[in-house]
Amino acid sequence: MSHPDTPCNTSNNTHFRDVLASSLADPSRRSVLRGGLGLSALAMLPGIMAHASTPVSGMANTLGFASVDKSLIDNVTLPPGYRYTVLHATGDSLDPALPAYSNSGAETDDWSRRIGDHHDGMDLYFIDANGRYTTTDTGRAVLAVNHESSADSYFMHPNGQTSNGVAGKKFSQFGEWDLGARPELEVLKEINHHGVSIVEIVRTPAGWRRVPGSPLNRRITAQTPVRIDGPGAHIGAIRSMMVTRWNADGGMARGTLNNCGHGKTPWGTFLGCEENWAFYFGMNGSGGSLDAREVAGRRRYGVAFEAPAANAKRARSQGWHTVSASDDRFTRWNLDAVGAGAGQDFRNEANTFGYNVEIDPLAPESTPVKRIAMGRFAHEAAVVSLPVPGQPLAFYQGCDARNEYIYKFVTAAAWDPRDVGGGVAVGDKYLNEGKLFVARFDADGRGEWVELAISDPRIANYAAYKFANQGDVFVNARHAADAVGATKMDRPEWGAVNPRNGDVYFTLTNNSAENRTPGRVDAANPRAYMDVDGRKGAGNPNGHIIRFRENDGGSVAKAFTWDIFLFGAEEDAGDANLSGLSAKNAFSSPDGLWFSQATGICWIQTDDGAMTDETGCMMLAAIPGTVGDGGKVTVKNRMVINGAEQSGTQETFIGAALGDAKLRRFLVAPPGAEVTGVAETPDGRTMFVNIQHPGENTKAGGTPESLWPGNQSYGRPGRPRSATIIITREDGGVIGV
Ligand code: FEO
Ligand code: CA
Ligand code: CA
Repeated sequence: MSHPDTPCNTSNNTHFRDVLASSLADPSRRSVLRGGLGLSALAMLPGIMAHASTPVSGMANTLGFASVDKSLIDNVTLPPGYRYTVLHATGDSLDPALPAYSNSGAETDDWSRRIGDHHDGMDLYFIDANGRYTTTDTGRAVLAVNHESSADSYFMHPNGQTSNGVAGKKFSQFGEWDLGARPELEVLKEINHHGVSIVEIVRTPAGWRRVPGSPLNRRITAQTPVRIDGPGAHIGAIRSMMVTRWNADGGMARGTLNNCGHGKTPWGTFLGCEENWAFYFGMNGSGGSLDAREVAGRRRYGVAFEAPAANAKRARSQGWHTVSASDDRFTRWNLDAVGAGAGQDFRNEANTFGYNVEIDPLAPESTPVKRIAMGRFAHEAAVVSLPVPGQPLAFYQGCDARNEYIYKFVTAAAWDPRDVGGGVAVGDKYLNEGKLFVARFDADGRGEWVELAISDPRIANYAAYKFANQGDVFVNARHAADAVGATKMDRPEWGAVNPRNGDVYFTLTNNSAENRTPGRVDAANPRAYMDVDGRKGAGNPNGHIIRFRENDGGSVAKAFTWDIFLFGAEEDAGDANLSGLSAKNAFSSPDGLWFSQATGICWIQTDDGAMTDETGCMMLAAIPGTVGDGGKVTVKNRMVINGAEQSGTQETFIGAALGDAKLRRFLVAPPGAEVTGVAETPDGRTMFVNIQHPGENTKAGGTPESLWPGNQSYGRPGRPRSATIIITREDGGVIGV
């Protein structure tokens, strides 16, 4: 989706000078030998042997398809020998009683029984003969898909979003429009196209197909009741921050928003991760006032803390709160403190968003649970460490906004494989009790996990936000991470764990010139340069992929070693093309990231605006080595800022070059779409991929930028739709090899 530009991290920690200072202050970190070390030398470092002793067999060492050229075609382009079908698209009905999707905005139902919009992270859950979750491919499964939704609720209405009867001037809700009342039906459709869809699918001779009318088909929306849960010692404090007029004790809340990447737990549940939830709330300014602490809490997340000026034309929210002042399906989006206390209004509503939402995809009646101990921020995804029986699990999580952080949640409970299939009750065991850490990447190629605990004086005495207790630390985790000096990253997106060796990868999609200049880089975010075509300005317009290996202890390690796996770039980007990309594998703005369990291929998906003059967003296949398999590199940075050239160098650590043999472009999406979300059958022969928001750059009232998938005979033509596609090889073989 398009990201709002609001800068929320104004803390002044961790730019290059700070990293350097901390490195110099600690000789033990400085002394670690990194550059140019081979795998054998790395294996002597603590923690490496544990992974190296458990190689995974059957993994691919070569890619077996011809790289796809850049493309501006209004279709999904795949290598020769591959094909796709559409499984479902935005608006498809889950209720046989509903009419088929009009694809003209004509729906008069509230969308709660239709496939949501903006397909994103997803996963497969196989079903055994007793209806329980199994990791074995039984030919019967549900597919759970996040619907990130948000920025372009345009094609679902006849003429886009309206307010006071006037259509918005711009395509997105962050644009300019009248701030008067919005129509109820429009808003209900928007509320309900958010969330998660769960659909049953079965393998047929013609491939995987949906099961219409299955009792397992389910929608979770921004209105679905959810449980608020967390550590026993802190749950009272946590729930006191969630009290609203709708729920007096804060034990329940409503709905989930902006579910972006996802997580799949080892016990078989789905984590919908709430990313840009902060921008759904408004204030009317109809009374009450916030104290300085409440303002500081909201401001750090980009949540409304003041009413818009009386003559404002620029909406910062969807305007859902404007529908009715008496119906709390709408009032809940108004964060005014108008009541005598928090139980009389919705001032706390935004505290109930920003979490991982655990869902049992095989239990349609089960209540989803927000896991507060995993922290509140702009959750991109939550990826679990390789489960080891008897050891705690680690969940790695990115907070996707410029200059935000990478977090790790470590479960208190040790992994027990007998918990597979236990649903959210097992989630209570693993995801309520645990420790939350944030990453600091040091200049010497090492890093530390810093626990976010109120016992840390830096948190307890933090001036910018006065924490009340540990529950407050989880709910205002961004402030706590600021307090301990976490490293500001170039927008952390998905993480992924290499099944061969446990290495953890994170996409850092891009950053702007406000944050990255030759004088404001660090070893983990080392580039500041100009986009060669000037489309995305300057900063780190093409992004990179960082990876790290936990030291001794694996999931519970307090330290790690890192390097940069790949730098995105156009092939003609000169010094910025540090990974030696060619026209065959050039990419920009990596976002989705996922390892195939069948082949070990690392799949990279992009959400880009820098290369889109030449190609749609894409998906690439990579065969990575290990952390430390490359060496040290000196990045040459150069930017022109206000007519003046700035330059500088930054040392960092880079993985071994992959070349055209181990990094290939596999898929190009239609114009305006990002590629996000991937799942695969265990045999590696069927892959599910999400194509999100084709035609996103359509001007309000203008000709759609894309007509996919209607232009490929899927559903009614007329407007573009997000969709899940199923990719197979024409010869039935394993994908990618
Ligand atoms: Fe929803 Fe950060 O992509
Ligand atoms: Ca170019
Ligand atoms: Ca994403």
